[in-house]
Amino acid sequence: MASTEAPEIRPIGIDDCEGVWPLSIEAGWNQNLADWRFMLGAGRGFGCADANGEWQASSLILPLGQRLAWISMVLVTRERRRGGVGTTLLKHCISEVQSAGAVAGLDATEQGRPIYLPLGFRDLYPIARWHFDAATDVPRLPAGVSARPAGAADLPRLALYDRPHTGMERPALLAHLALRQPARAWLAEDAAGKLVGFGLGREGRTATSLGPIVADSEPIALALIARASTAAPGPFIIDVPAAHSALRKWLEAQGAVTPRGYMRMTLGEAKGLDDPSHLFALAGPELG
Ligand SMILES: CC(C)(COP(=O)(O)OP(=O)(O)OC[C@H]1O[C@@H](n2cnc3c(N)ncnc32)[C@H](O)[C@@H]1OP(=O)(O)O)[C@@H](O)C(=O)NCCC(=O)NCCS
Repeated sequence: MASTEAPEIRPIGIDDCEGVWPLSIEAGWNQNLADWRFMLGAGRGFGCADANGEWQASSLILPLGQRLAWISMVLVTRERRRGGVGTTLLKHCISEVQSAGAVAGLDATEQGRPIYLPLGFRDLYPIARWHFDAATDVPRLPAGVSARPAGAADLPRLALYDRPHTGMERPALLAHLALRQPARAWLAEDAAGKLVGFGLGREGRTATSLGPIVADSEPIALALIARASTAAPGPFIIDVPAAHSALRKWLEAQGAVTPRGYMRMTLGEAKGLDDPSHLFALAGPELG
């Protein structure tokens, strides 16, 4: 039964990553310890623990530039649910984000959306989570475009390209992903050497996660995704804005299934965030 006591909110530090990890495992989520360590290092965590110090709930704020912050990892153990803990943590995160003068964004699960709507969040666009085991059809890049592995020297270019195409300022996140899994970092260039897309990925608790994928066009994104999924071990998960229909058709042809989805939401206006035309896969609902 849910406790009716008002929850005491405590900061979650980077050393707590092993203590909070069971929360995302209980929910069946894909994060591993490396994800929690990155998020708690780059962002700020807040949670609730029981009398023995065991974490019962979590929430996290990840800054994506001066004006935008991602709220994620809103998790409450099954036995503490429906007691107001999730709402309390969320309100705490919102007030932290707003007092820093930023807009809050998040990707809501079906369970999370009923909490976010009454707090003023509005829907931007739906996203499908796809699961697949392997890619059998690997489409070619458009004529004149070539792909190569992205290295540390490419990181400033990736961050510069990413910002206007996604509305997010996330050089630390891109660097973390590219350096953590160099074999999953690819970029695409046109004949003049201009960057026209990139893709990153990471290993997870139960599957390899592909994303973010940011590109000038859907055929470039598709070729990067197909390439990444032949270069790494499956099974794979990828979160694709529903607007990308060619990508959806390709995923269906690979036997991919979409057991759940998310709604991208914001509290306030964040320039460029409502337009997924160059964002073909999220870094993850927890990362933006
Ligand atoms: C979503 C989650 C964090 C909610 O935590 P919680 O502590 O139970 O939330 P609250 O008690 O503050 O719920 C607030 C309100 O949201 C609504 N709500 C919460 N869970 C709901 C559900 N499963 N179905 C319908 N409405 C729900 C209710 O209106 C509820 O108020 P009420 O209990 O007075 O009716 C929790 O269910 C959870 O950890 N789920 C799994 C992980 C997840 O999906 N997280 C959200 C990521 S976006």
